[in-house]
Amino acid sequence: MPAPSDGALVVDGVSHRFGDRLVLDGVDLVVPSGRVIGLLGPNGAGKTTLMRIVFGVIEPDAGGVWWRGRASTGEDRSRWGYMPQERGLYREMRVHDQLVWIARLHGLDRCAAADRADDLLERLGLADRRGDQVQKLSGGMAQRVQLAAAMVHQPELLVLDEPFSGLDPTAVEFLTAVVLDHVAAGGTLVFSSHQLDLVEGLCESITMIDAGRVVLEGDVATLKRESPDRHLRVDAEVDPAWLVGLPAELESADHRGSRVRLGVDADPVEVLDAIRRRAVIADFAVETPSLSELFLDAIGGAPVGAER
Ligand SMILES: Nc1ncnc2c1ncn2[C@@H]1O[C@H](COP(=O)(O)OP(=O)(O)O)[C@@H](O)[C@H]1O
Ligand SMILES: [Mg+2]
Repeated sequence: MPAPSDGALVVDGVSHRFGDRLVLDGVDLVVPSGRVIGLLGPNGAGKTTLMRIVFGVIEPDAGGVWWRGRASTGEDRSRWGYMPQERGLYREMRVHDQLVWIARLHGLDRCAAADRADDLLERLGLADRRGDQVQKLSGGMAQRVQLAAAMVHQPELLVLDEPFSGLDPTAVEFLTAVVLDHVAAGGTLVFSSHQLDLVEGLCESITMIDAGRVVLEGDVATLKRESPDRHLRVDAEVDPAWLVGLPAELESADHRGSRVRLGVDADPVEVLDAIRRRAVIADFAVETPSLSELFLDAIGGAPVGAER
């Protein structure tokens, strides 16, 4: 159970039912200041419901949401930025006017709002569309405007629900660069995704949920390093005797190469050195599990929360 002071945003033991269906079951989420947390899991896992609870759209049946060590208030939430999964922009309003209007609602003066809107449109590659109505934009462009709308008031905490779904690689790049700037400037970011491997480069830490329960959480590099699913691949035929005494196990070997499963505490360089003492190696790789493999390892099979 996290303490309210463990992060800037702390979700503590949140449970929620829709009718008799338990969709969140004691979920904890800790988001430290200046960090990126990915809330990952299949469709139907409960990600959107959790974000709505964070924003006070839904009242949880149990548990609470803390901001900077105390129960979060409507005033806190008004300073955060939220990009909901069902996007909501005024289709007939012009892009720049829309952003200025939202920024003004958040208390920026006209001049600051206009500057901020221009700056964001520039960075999102939309400067030449500032005078277009939203309905004239492609889906990917509208989604970038939606991101601009969520962060036009320079929120400390940015919460993005499935920001990457349906985007082409260029739009993903623009979006990623802008949210990383937000974090580099000291902002905090939580985003959700059901496409686990698309977001690998963006997450420092993850919380994975399935069927309303947290199944895995922590720092991505640590989770990968400590996974029992790490391998060393070398282009030499390894003899099992070379690995005696090392936390490593030969999985396959022939004249084309070998695959060695690394133990949880194994140092891949030490294992590689043991092999190099007996064979010439021109090529090698440490293979760590992808986020979706980590997820499948954590749940031990198919996701139960998936809508099939
Ligand atoms: N307003 C609602 N009323 C009833 N059931 C809902 C409602 N919103 C979501 N659900 C159900 O709650 C579960 C979690 O949904 P959701 O939070 O949208 O998951 P995710 O965002 O991870 O895909 C799903 O089974 C979904 O059908
Ligand atoms: Mg969702």
